[in-house]
Parts: sequence; C-alpha cells; structure tokens
Amino acid sequence: MTRVLLTGGAGYIGSHTVVALIERGHEVVILDNFANAQRDVPARLERLTGCANIPVIEADIRDTGAVRAALAAHPVEAVIHFAALKAVGESEADPLLYYDMNIIGTIRLLQAMQAQNVRRIVFSSSATVYGQSDSSPIPEDAPTRVQNIYGRTKLVMEDLISDLARTGKLQAAANLRYFNPVGAHPSAMIGETPRGVPNNLMPYVTQVATGERPHLNVFGNDYDTPDGTGVRDYIHVVDLARAHALALEHICAHDVALTVNLGTGTGISVLELVRAFERATGREIPLNIAPRRPGDVASYYANPEMAARVFGWQAALDVNDMCRDSWAWQARRAGINDI
Ligand SMILES: NC(=O)c1ccc[n+]([C@@H]2O[C@H](COP(=O)([O-])OP(=O)(O)OC[C@H]3O[C@@H](n4cnc5c(N)ncnc54)[C@H](O)[C@@H]3O)[C@@H](O)[C@H]2O)c1
Repeated sequence: MTRVLLTGGAGYIGSHTVVALIERGHEVVILDNFANAQRDVPARLERLTGCANIPVIEADIRDTGAVRAALAAHPVEAVIHFAALKAVGESEADPLLYYDMNIIGTIRLLQAMQAQNVRRIVFSSSATVYGQSDSSPIPEDAPTRVQNIYGRTKLVMEDLISDLARTGKLQAAANLRYFNPVGAHPSAMIGETPRGVPNNLMPYVTQVATGERPHLNVFGNDYDTPDGTGVRDYIHVVDLARAHALALEHICAHDVALTVNLGTGTGISVLELVRAFERATGREIPLNIAPRRPGDVASYYANPEMAARVFGWQAALDVNDMCRDSWAWQARRAGINDI
C-alpha cells in the first residue's frame, strides 16, 4: 500500500485515478484549487469507492507553504501531479499564465516535496510533446518538437523532473505521455466537464448528441488515411487511471525514472469514432465537413509497448466502451434518461 497525494485529484483524469488507486489498496490525499473541478467530486468519489473521509486540501500548487503544510499533515510516499492548465489555444493567448501555472507551479510543488522529503513523482505529460511527428506509431525516443506553449510547458516540466531524478533529488519518477483521453467511469458518477466550447472531439460529439450543439465540424476529409479524416489514439480514462496505479507501483518498487507513452496503439479516425458513437447511443451526429486546421496531422498514435513491457499495462477498453461511457456521463449531466 502506498499513500499518495494527487495534485489536481478532483479533475477529470485525477478523479478516475483516485478510484483506480483505492481499488488497488492505496491511500489517497487530494490537493486541488478547484479552478477546473466540480465541488462535489470528492463526495462522489467517496460514494463510488465506499471510502469515507478522503482527505481534500484546497490549495494552489504555487503556494509552497500550503503544499508543505498538506504534506506535513498527510505524510505520503509519492505525488501524482495532474494540476495544470491544458488548453492549447489559451496557452498561445496567454503564455505567461501557462508558464506560471504549469512551470512555476511544478517548481513550487517540487520544492515543497523536497522540503518534506517526498521523493517520488508520477507526472501527467502529453503526446503533444512529439509535435507533428513524421510517422506513427510513435515510440518514446521519437524527437520532441513542441508546436505550442502548452506543449512547451509539458516538455519543460518533464525535463525538470528528469533532471531531479538524474541528480538524485528524486528517488523515482514517471513522465506519462498521454495520447487522447476520453470516456468516463462506467458508473457515470465522474467524468469530464469541459468549460465552454469543448476543445476535444469526444466531449463535442456528446454535446451534439444532447442537442447543445447543432453539428460536428470535421476538419478535413482529404487526409491520407483510410476514410480521409484525422486518425488519433483515443484511450479510455479508466485504462489511463489504471496505468497511473501500475506506474506508481513500479517506480516505488524499483526506484527508477522513466518516460512512457500511454495510448492503445490503435488509430481511430474521426468518422470511425462518430459511427461507433452513433451505434453505442442510437443518436445521430450531424456532420459538417470543414477545411483542415493548420497544424493538424493526418495520423497520430502511440507505440505503447514500453508500458506493457515495463509495468504490465495495456489498454483493455475499446472505442465502443469509450463512446458508451462518455455518453452515459454526458446524458446524466444533461438530464437525459433514455440510456
Ligand atoms: N485531458 C487531456 O486530454 C490530457 C491529455 C494529455 C495530458 N493531460 C494532462 O493531464 C493532467 C490532468 O488533465 P485533466 O484533463 O484531468 O484536466 P482537469 O482540468 O480536469 O484537471 C486538472 C485539475 O487540476 C486543478 N488545478 C489546476 N491548476 C491548479 C493549481 N494551480 N493548483 C491546484 N490545482 C489546480 C483543477 O482544478 C483540476 O481539478 C493535466 O496536467 C493535463 O495537462 C490531459
């Protein structure tokens, strides 16, 4: 059993990871400033896991004193670091906000951890660090070519963590490069709650299905892919959450530092995802074919072999599970009962 503090533990991926950790017998402490999380998530997590009194600290990761106090009050062996801003467009509009929240925030967190002698970390990185990769599947040793400020902050945060591990300041570290997380817990009690217009495909599709948006814009149907639409590696958030637990257990057992992809290794096109969603939900998604967006690549999916080899993880859930669970969550939020 490991006791672990999750920064951003009330957010989308963090909340699912809380469930995965508790299911595997670990103890969790949530630290979140609730800037992008629903207030009732901790109560939902307690109902979902049957685990009463999950400690929740409301604090900003940039507040070293508050994070130190949290670590002093709740001694942990490791931190899983989710807390960050994550919108590419917003990062280009306000770079300093992203440098401050993501990079300065991570430095402050690492300082607090060092002061409290917490020397193991699992970090939420992103496949966005590969930028416009030449070919897929993408292995971990593919060149990193960040295309935007959000991606740059992820790469800098990875480097900070890798440097501290290399110099012995951290005992164990995992930089986890997520591909495209989608889905929700099958209970429909936790899921993703995007603000405003969703940036990602699946939340947009679910909002078209509820009637909140009239149609889905498909950006380009003339790519060199089987049906002309962009291909991505969608990964169910429940699989992703389980990967965090396995990575944590591995680095704690072996005191190693690693950087690893988390994806299914299977590319799914926009049209394939939409058709799977229509099959899983019985709802039609009207489409509007729009021009390609600058910067989008045709095909982008992981080589996930390292995660399988090193800590025995591979995705178990498929696109049908992703669509069913995304819809159950969104329909529940929208008060739709025909599911
Ligand atoms: N969702 C994705 O598509 C995706 C893909 C790749 C990587 N990631 C990374 O995974 C991590 C989690 O993403 P998510 O989708 O769960 O996002 P999210 O916004 O749902 O979760 C982030 C959580 O961190 C909290 N938070 C933000 N800034 C904070 C701060 N300064 N101090 C304390 N808490 C703070 C928010 O309130 C929220 O609960 C992020 O680091 C993100 O960059 C996400």
